[in-house]
Amino acid sequence: MYIYPDLTESFQTLWRSGLVISPWLEGVGVERFELDIHELLGERSRECALIHWTEVERGRVLGDLPAPERMAQIAVYETAASTAVYLAHQQTGELDVTESIAHEAMRRVEQFVDDHGFATLMQLYMLETCWENLNALRHFGEIPERDYVLGLWHRPWVAYSLGEEVLFASVLGNIELQKRGEHRFVRLTDEGCRVLRAATDALQRAGYFRHRLETLRVSQFSQFHNYDQMDQEIWPYAMEQRQTFLTWAAVQPGQRVLELGCADGVVTFAAGLAERVGPTGFVVAVDPSTGMLARARRKQYQAHVSWVEFRRGKAEQLPVQEERFDMALGVGYFHLTDRPQALREMKRVVRPGGVIASWHPLKMTFTAPFFREWFEPIFTLAAMREEQPKDYLLHPDDAPKDFENAGLEHVETFVSSSVLAFQHAEHVVQHFIRGVGWFGEELAPLPWKAREALIEELMERGRFVCQRYSAQERRIEWPSQAIRARVPKNG
Ligand SMILES: C[S@@+](CC[C@H](N)C(=O)[O-])C[C@H]1O[C@@H](n2cnc3c(N)ncnc32)[C@H](O)[C@@H]1O
Repeated sequence: MYIYPDLTESFQTLWRSGLVISPWLEGVGVERFELDIHELLGERSRECALIHWTEVERGRVLGDLPAPERMAQIAVYETAASTAVYLAHQQTGELDVTESIAHEAMRRVEQFVDDHGFATLMQLYMLETCWENLNALRHFGEIPERDYVLGLWHRPWVAYSLGEEVLFASVLGNIELQKRGEHRFVRLTDEGCRVLRAATDALQRAGYFRHRLETLRVSQFSQFHNYDQMDQEIWPYAMEQRQTFLTWAAVQPGQRVLELGCADGVVTFAAGLAERVGPTGFVVAVDPSTGMLARARRKQYQAHVSWVEFRRGKAEQLPVQEERFDMALGVGYFHLTDRPQALREMKRVVRPGGVIASWHPLKMTFTAPFFREWFEPIFTLAAMREEQPKDYLLHPDDAPKDFENAGLEHVETFVSSSVLAFQHAEHVVQHFIRGVGWFGEELAPLPWKAREALIEELMERGRFVCQRYSAQERRIEWPSQAIRARVPKNG
């Protein structure tokens, strides 16, 4: 069996170098690149592989195994292409790649190869694609060879044949081809199952799945253009509750406030945070989603508010100086963070005696019949693991414990209930599944075609459920929690 070395360090280095191997970011059926950018990346990838994929580097990755010829060039191309989309997203919130971004992505790949060797890039790429391939076979049981080679079910973004990968995986004994009638099918062997388990463990250890989920979540959210409208429809009382939270957190005129997870400025403007603080204070509002920030800045421009500044960043790594704020707060962000790290950061930037606060939805059990019926496929996926669906929501004790462990004082909470109205199937699926990334942990590990088919199915089921149940029956009460605490005055 091919043994994957521990690539945790290498993945960390890759991400620190501003690179990603996330070809799915390129999307399907959408043109992220003009033809000349494809050509540019193709040409430079060929050159890079030709120069750096030397006998020595091959030996480092593959030992005596036969080296697939085109795989090296494809590895460079896909790394550069997905890095380009990632960079475009970081800079603009959109995913469309310009020529200068493509050059920058390619420069980063070449720099990485110079610094860490081509073999390192190949190991990372092969681990990721091997997982993608074998995971799809395990999910579907078998894939018609033609569809497999074209990547139609699991890597539809590829613009080349996966024939060489099929050959390579057969030589390794991970897959086999089975002929039935006129057609051949690709199947996973027992050896392939073992390799898949090893690859999954290696990626898990390296934090790859977490990174992938986060990238998927943030990039999806950036593309969610009508967040406000959907939010109002689905959470009809959320705006009032945001205001109640700001009052409870005791935001005062003249304060210096850091807002976390600001999205498109719904708390900053519509819920009145900027207005409460007024021009004698200031608000720095932070979010990792560039697309949302662009929309927030448009609102700011229209509102002529000069004492608010939007910055790209996340709670775990705040782009602000020490003790600069009287308060750090936000709505619907805390459950999405690495909570201990986010609290360390908030404590760093809030002055002694200042306030840290959050309002976030809580975990709940979904018993409403319409809901079970609508989201049945998600419950089925979880049931196969003998679990409830994974989600990112918190138990009522989680945040208070986190706040106390972070050394905050006077921790206070209140739990309230929000009404959720499931009115239109398309809107609900767009808001939860494609927007805020709910059930993302269930959806992300699915091969592309299965994920898209599942989302389509949720839409279909939703339409049916909306006809069968009254609007009143399609409302549920969702618990949420507000929490506030003080940074100790000494230490
Ligand atoms: C459900 S939205 C809430 C937006 C808004 N505050 C509201 O009241 O509707 C969650 C927001 O948290 C942001 N987010 C995700 N991960 C984050 C992190 N690690 N740190 C800060 N914000 C994050 C998302 O980009 C998104 O804008």
